[in-house]
Amino acid sequence: MTNRYAVVLAAGQGTRMKSKLYKVLHPVCGKPMVQHVVDQLNTLELNELITVVGFGAEKVQHQLGEDSHYVIQEEQLGTGHAVLKAEDILADKEGTTVVVCGDTPLLTAETLQKLLDHHDEQNAQATILTAHADDPSGYGRVIRGGNAQVERIVEQKDASEEEKAIQEINTGTYCFDNQKLFEALQNVANDNAQGEYYLPDVIEILKNESDKISAYQTPDFSESLGVNDRVALSKAEKLMKQRINEQHMRNGVTIVDPDQTYIGPDVQINRDVVIEPGCIIEGNTIIEEDAVVGPHSSLTNCFVGKGTVIKQSVAADSHIGERVQVGPYAHIRPASSLGDEVKVGNFVEVKKASFGSGSKASHLSYIGDAEVGDGVNIGCGTITVNYDGHNKHLTTIQDDAFIGCNSNLVAPVTVGKGAYVAAGSTINEDVPAEALSIARARQTNKEGYAAKMKSNKKE
Ligand code: UD1
Ligand code: CA
Repeated sequence: MTNRYAVVLAAGQGTRMKSKLYKVLHPVCGKPMVQHVVDQLNTLELNELITVVGFGAEKVQHQLGEDSHYVIQEEQLGTGHAVLKAEDILADKEGTTVVVCGDTPLLTAETLQKLLDHHDEQNAQATILTAHADDPSGYGRVIRGGNAQVERIVEQKDASEEEKAIQEINTGTYCFDNQKLFEALQNVANDNAQGEYYLPDVIEILKNESDKISAYQTPDFSESLGVNDRVALSKAEKLMKQRINEQHMRNGVTIVDPDQTYIGPDVQINRDVVIEPGCIIEGNTIIEEDAVVGPHSSLTNCFVGKGTVIKQSVAADSHIGERVQVGPYAHIRPASSLGDEVKVGNFVEVKKASFGSGSKASHLSYIGDAEVGDGVNIGCGTITVNYDGHNKHLTTIQDDAFIGCNSNLVAPVTVGKGAYVAAGSTINEDVPAEALSIARARQTNKEGYAAKMKSNKKE
């Protein structure tokens, strides 16, 4: 099999975004554009993937990590100049090189595969991925000559009026015979409207050397959307959102209002899950069968077990078991774990706390830095007093304990198995198993006191 390489162009600043954040790091459905591109490429069998970085090089490298090798383009002199930066690694290798821009987040691995297949079938030295655009402005146009053979690509800024009317655009994705690509790049000049070394000029150079140039036109223009500004970014977001939501619906997930549902590309959702309107589900979240999420909930990197119901709540980096009830208006903060059949009700905040199965905190509580056993009942208004101004301390509540309403558990502290804490207690010493602890001022009733008060009142 032929060797395959990929070069991702990601060195530009993205001036048109008018942003502190480098263009290719702008997220689409929660994932940076360049990561979308690299993830799709990495599903193909490649010998090597190289990303050309420049502006924000460190941040781009940090984002992609080991998914790519890197070369640096210090000055951004154009897309042709950028590819040439991979010369030392690639130039003498035999095989096919795919070049993709880091700002085309909607491009799919299936389309890249079709492009590669077409390139092989045609025995071409260069194959351009093209698309028909209703509005081609901003893109390079594909110029075809006699027999509809591709001759060259002309950039918008260099195009004549006649050329501007052409609706077949260069998507910025290509396959090349690797060695031919690097030979041709030596001859690319910068005598054009932008004074840049254009990668698309390689097409005309190869054509003039009688190499075979081919084009594969993808039927779906949306895949080739190049994001240069924030208007295009919002279009990409919308298209990606539709694509992701449709895939989940086809897999058996009910999404009540897909226009108002935002699901990240790496989220996994099982059958018969219902997603109510207004949810944002991100990161590596996994939702198991029959769960119901929403309306208006946000889940980031969470596991949600079978049959769990989450209403109007926010949860991040946490494990939520089966048949759990969360919300309305609960906040599950990172590193929490809720066992099966737990209930975390309205206005309850949980942070770095584990709940054993069947435990409940139904109303108005803060449970942070805590280990809660099985079958525990935490009354309304309970607070784990976890912070002394310097350090965080652990509260342990053992199985079947019962914490009365409006209690403060001053950590570090342990409430033993089956123990009771009386309502309104401030507990700062361990409570033995099966004990009742009352830690509040005693109530005194002064009979007839009201009449005395009234008689003392001045006229
Ligand atoms: C480019 C193509 C155009 C095509 C369009 C598709 C050129 C000259 N034009 O135009 O034909 O229709 O993409 O979206 O190639 N980059 C570098 N180094 C540079 C310049 C750019 O790494 O010196 C990177 C950018 O970060 C970006 C990509 O290359 O990810 C494309 O550059 P951009 O400036 O967006 O090119 P377009 O004007 O969109
Ligand atoms: Ca672009």
